[in-house]
Amino acid sequence: MRKKIIAGNWKMNMTPSQAVALCAELKDLVKNDDVDVVYCVPAIDIVPVVNALKGTNVKVGAENMYFEEKGAFTGEISAAMLKDAGVEYVIIGHSERRDYFKEDDALLNKKVKKAIEAGLTPILCCGETLEQREMGITMDWIRMQIKSDLAGVAAADVAKLVIAYEPIWAIGTGKTATTAQAEEVCGGIRACIEEIYDKATAEAVRIQYGGSVNAANAAELFAEKDIDGGLVGGASLKADFGKIVCYNK
Ligand code: 13P
Repeated sequence: MRKKIIAGNWKMNMTPSQAVALCAELKDLVKNDDVDVVYCVPAIDIVPVVNALKGTNVKVGAENMYFEEKGAFTGEISAAMLKDAGVEYVIIGHSERRDYFKEDDALLNKKVKKAIEAGLTPILCCGETLEQREMGITMDWIRMQIKSDLAGVAAADVAKLVIAYEPIWAIGTGKTATTAQAEEVCGGIRACIEEIYDKATAEAVRIQYGGSVNAANAAELFAEKDIDGGLVGGASLKADFGKIVCYNK
């Protein structure tokens, strides 16, 4: 039985003081022992958020990292820095990074490997554009992303990984994929993992849906057999996130 994992992706929101205030506001609302709860926060918020969440059920994630160990990479943050600061998860390959910052699968593959080596759990994102969906190549595209991003990653590490399926047309648009669309692709990702690795690995890997998840649609999405939780943008910044985390209560 896979434990659900519900993560907020704060994106470029919340100054350090706002971040601490949000942690306090959500503290009692996000208590649910049935699920793993994670806040993926901007780099500058990591240290205050780790402190603010001490003694709670909420884990901290980063939104990005660089694959090099250390050195002359001005402005970047390493996996070891994140780990030392108390981070447990790191989003890799969000569509905003792929699009605005031109991150490609070869780079993301290096990031995934480095995160695992440092003891972080990657939340690896994939997803198609509306154009790709309309062309009927959604699953081809996503299989290509998964295979490239996980090239050379061992089965035992993939079993512990989180994959987030985020259709780009559903991000920040208020336009959620239907439950059937989300389940179809999450199931397809699991089948792809079984094909590359084996059944046990496919059964263990956790696959989230992301894209306009809210308090009204979370329970239906998370009830699907291949959807192991959500990666939540806008709704993670308000009290509604508590309702999403407590979708089963
Ligand atoms: P929204 O929930 O705001 O659509 O964002 C989804 C997302 O990109 C999470 O990573």
